[in-house]
Amino acid sequence: MSIVFVDLVGSTRLSALIDPERYREVLAAYYQATAEELESLRGRAVNVAGDAVVGVFGLPQVHDDDALRAIRAGISIAARVGELGDALSLPVPLRCRVAVSTGPVAIGGEAVERGLLSGAVVNTAARLQQAAEPGTVIVGELTRLLTEDAVEYGERKDVRAKGFDDALPGFPVVALAPRSSRRTIPFVDRRHELRLLTDTFERAVESHRGHMITLLGEPGIGKSRMADEFLSALPSETKVLKGRASPFEEDVTFAPLAQILLQEIDERPDAPPERLQARLEEMVLSCCPSDEAGPMIVRLGYALGLGEEPRDERRYRAGEIRSGLAPFLRGLSQRGPVVLAFEDLHLAEEPLLDLVEQLVRDSKGMRLLVLCVARSELLDRRPGWGGGLGDSLNIYLEPMSPEHATELALQAGEGLDARTAELVARHAGGNPFFIVETTGMLLHEEVGLPPGAETFPEQLLPPTVQAVIAARIDHLSPEARDLVRKASVFARFTFALSELELIAEPNERALQMLEEEELLVRDAEGVYRFGHGLVRDVAYESLPKRERRRLHLALAEALSVDAETAARNPRSIAYHLEQAARAALDLDPNDRSLAERAFRSLSRAGELALDASDARAAADLCERALAMAGPRKGWGPSEATVLSNLGEARYWLGEFEGAARPLTSALEIGGAEPGIRAHASRFLGDVELSIRGNPERAGELFDQALDAARDLGDPWTLARTLLVAGWAPYWRGDLASARAMFREALAVTRDNSLGDPWAEARALCALATAVEDDGDEEECLALNSQALAIAEAKGDRFSISVAREGVGNALRRMWRLDEALPHLDQAVEAFRELGSRWELASALTSRGILHRLAGRTREAVKDLREAYGICREVKERSIVTWTASALAQALLASGDVTAARLVLREAASVANPEGPAPMIWLQEAEVWVLLAEGDSDAALDRAMELLREARDGGHAKDAAAWTWRIGRVWGAEAAGGEGEVSAARGLLESVHLQQILREPVLAGV
Ligand SMILES: Nc1ncnc2c1ncn2[C@@H]1O[C@H](COP(=O)(O)OP(=O)(O)OP(=O)(O)O)[C@@H](O)[C@H]1O
Ligand SMILES: [Mg+2]
Repeated sequence: MSIVFVDLVGSTRLSALIDPERYREVLAAYYQATAEELESLRGRAVNVAGDAVVGVFGLPQVHDDDALRAIRAGISIAARVGELGDALSLPVPLRCRVAVSTGPVAIGGEAVERGLLSGAVVNTAARLQQAAEPGTVIVGELTRLLTEDAVEYGERKDVRAKGFDDALPGFPVVALAPRSSRRTIPFVDRRHELRLLTDTFERAVESHRGHMITLLGEPGIGKSRMADEFLSALPSETKVLKGRASPFEEDVTFAPLAQILLQEIDERPDAPPERLQARLEEMVLSCCPSDEAGPMIVRLGYALGLGEEPRDERRYRAGEIRSGLAPFLRGLSQRGPVVLAFEDLHLAEEPLLDLVEQLVRDSKGMRLLVLCVARSELLDRRPGWGGGLGDSLNIYLEPMSPEHATELALQAGEGLDARTAELVARHAGGNPFFIVETTGMLLHEEVGLPPGAETFPEQLLPPTVQAVIAARIDHLSPEARDLVRKASVFARFTFALSELELIAEPNERALQMLEEEELLVRDAEGVYRFGHGLVRDVAYESLPKRERRRLHLALAEALSVDAETAARNPRSIAYHLEQAARAALDLDPNDRSLAERAFRSLSRAGELALDASDARAAADLCERALAMAGPRKGWGPSEATVLSNLGEARYWLGEFEGAARPLTSALEIGGAEPGIRAHASRFLGDVELSIRGNPERAGELFDQALDAARDLGDPWTLARTLLVAGWAPYWRGDLASARAMFREALAVTRDNSLGDPWAEARALCALATAVEDDGDEEECLALNSQALAIAEAKGDRFSISVAREGVGNALRRMWRLDEALPHLDQAVEAFRELGSRWELASALTSRGILHRLAGRTREAVKDLREAYGICREVKERSIVTWTASALAQALLASGDVTAARLVLREAASVANPEGPAPMIWLQEAEVWVLLAEGDSDAALDRAMELLREARDGGHAKDAAAWTWRIGRVWGAEAAGGEGEVSAARGLLESVHLQQILREPVLAGV
């Protein structure tokens, strides 16, 4: 065992300088501080004589690290005694000398109880102590040998003492070697899982194909530890990139990627953007070909929040980031294997999950392993996680077997007896976290063990792991306990010491104790996190409400000190105000002042999230804002605005019914305000139109939105409202009104002196679509080309691709097939990269049709099959019939009549006749399928029907098209005579619709 000998320096002088009663108080404080420090490291004070204190480590159980803990206690005591002197404002500084010496002490428990401790070790410590400089620690030879790896020592001193002949070697402690103090519990079992990980990694490296492994399991089952063990054993040339999902970042969705990039460029998130930009460039150029670096840097920059993008374009950020990340990883993996590790993926947002899967899909040729760690709830949310990927494996971690669990309890419990270890293992149900925490608690629990008991009685084990953690927190020194509680107000995964200093006065000793107990983990210099989320929760629970209110408020205020800090932290500020308000409301439900501040702050953060297209976060923030609003009957315009924003957020998330509810309430409550009316009716109108298939109601809502937008005189709102509203008359077949609205939208954007290129490009494309139905293809091409030029000037890939598809289709209808192809190729590629599925399906359909017309039947079928697959997958409702019709026609061209018939049959069963997808597309294909099936009469009947409908509906182009087709296949007579046919031809030529005149016939008669 190890002895710590502490002696006050100059106590005689001090006692002469101050009042005897005061002196006794000083001594009492000194004893108490010393005892606390000893106990906090599992030592105990056994002998107090005059102003010397003797502590012992290794009673009743000897531990391997007794000597080290004794030294740590010595250091803490020396520091604490110095602080005590300052705190008591003594006339002279209070200092002590400390010595540590190790060796056998032959005494029974009873002697200890009576404070009798003697033996050579104690004498040695007493003698060494005299040689220590005041305020420092000196140790003996054996102690030094036992702690050499962990402690840095100064030059050896030969200590001579009165009454002893020979000199004693003494070694002054200079410092603890960094991190040495943490005793890591050896890794137990999990060898099958570890082997799976290693094998998969090796397979990825050998096959040059990205692989993915997901470790799943309940909290505390050992997922993170497994991942750590695996990562730390990887060959040194492997590049490991680590990111962690956490719901409390300012940019939740891409936080894990931002962490990875920041780690690689060795910067903090709040570094100046120019520096981040420069470092990012440096990093990309160091591993990737310089001709590809430009766009990669821009796209990766989005993950770091670099680059300005207004609301309309940010929706495709995930795709942009992925299309930067994939080539970056490829570049890295050229130099050596890469492991991309994501922790706590169950907390990740959908776009990140999509991104990860897509990344693996695109990882051919990469020596890449993606290691995901998640609680099992990931599979509840994404039952198909990793499914459909060729090289993906989900592993579920089971509780430990009783043998291994006991082994872990023994390892973690430092000399715990076997029966208690078994008890702990069983009690914890084989959950390693529970085991580690329980043994951690028992290490302090000599108190709890009844005299004479050999094992720990089961009824003394706390029933839950939370209770175990609570017991461990209770056992901390008062300052450490205070600190861990205060730190618990940070909900974010890590926090900086500088942040903690805003609300506490963390001292090195308390921090070290928290680290030693593994309650806190130091990630980097000055950056900490909780060893486990539960520790934070339990610490937070034990924080009195008054304290919570005070601390959260203090943090919110510290984060709002200046405009720049506030602008960087809107969600954190809102969070702290929210938590302060919760505590305040619990304390006094009538005091709503903080709740009102929280409401404002949360709604503002929600608005900013919408601007950043972070719809999930926006919805969450709006919901939380509303929870802070008072009773519903008192709601007014501010609450209605939040309701309306909540509606918009859900709309972007594709939760249309969930959007309709708050939008309707927003109109009920705040409909009198033009801003709210314009906003809520616009989105509700679109739900009515595109989802509920109710163009009448949609039309009313759009009218209402338009009136309000005009009242507001806000050109942005007005343009966007017109851009959605125009589709109501379009689907009703009122092309003139649709065109008028899109024209007005265009005019509004052009009058906008600040410019609104996004809406301008959109208005041009919409107008082109409305023109296409009965206008001239030349005009359609011109409009789309203008849109393309605007989008290109702006560099917005999404708008560029939308315009390219329009240009390509117009060229195709004009039979300029070779010119059309590159536009459609680029649109397909861009939408694929951006991950915008709907647009991809549309562009693939456009390209598939082009391929068929150009005689490339195989390519046509391939594109159209993919397009149709996506439509089915996303439950598409407006282009599905167009896509199915094109697929059926391509199949006919390939000679597969049966498959064509099947596609039509299936599409007819999924398409909703009341929905916006026109059934006419299926009818068109039906004509050709019937013909190919040999039923020429039925085919002609159908064709005639389509001709009649086109005429009745006043669709001159369609009528001409059918007249021409019927004439060509069944003869001019059937089409009403030569005159009709040539008039049709004239019309088609005049509007440049060459496609109809030149398309190949799909079956002979
Ligand atoms: N096989 C093992 N051997 C030794 N210790 C282990 C083992 N597995 C887990 N532990 C310890 O148990 C504790 C909990 O494990 P870990 O943090 O890995 O759990 P987790 O599954 O990641 O939990 P969570 O879902 O809460 O993040 C840690 O202290 C870890 O070191
Ligand atoms: Mg974990």
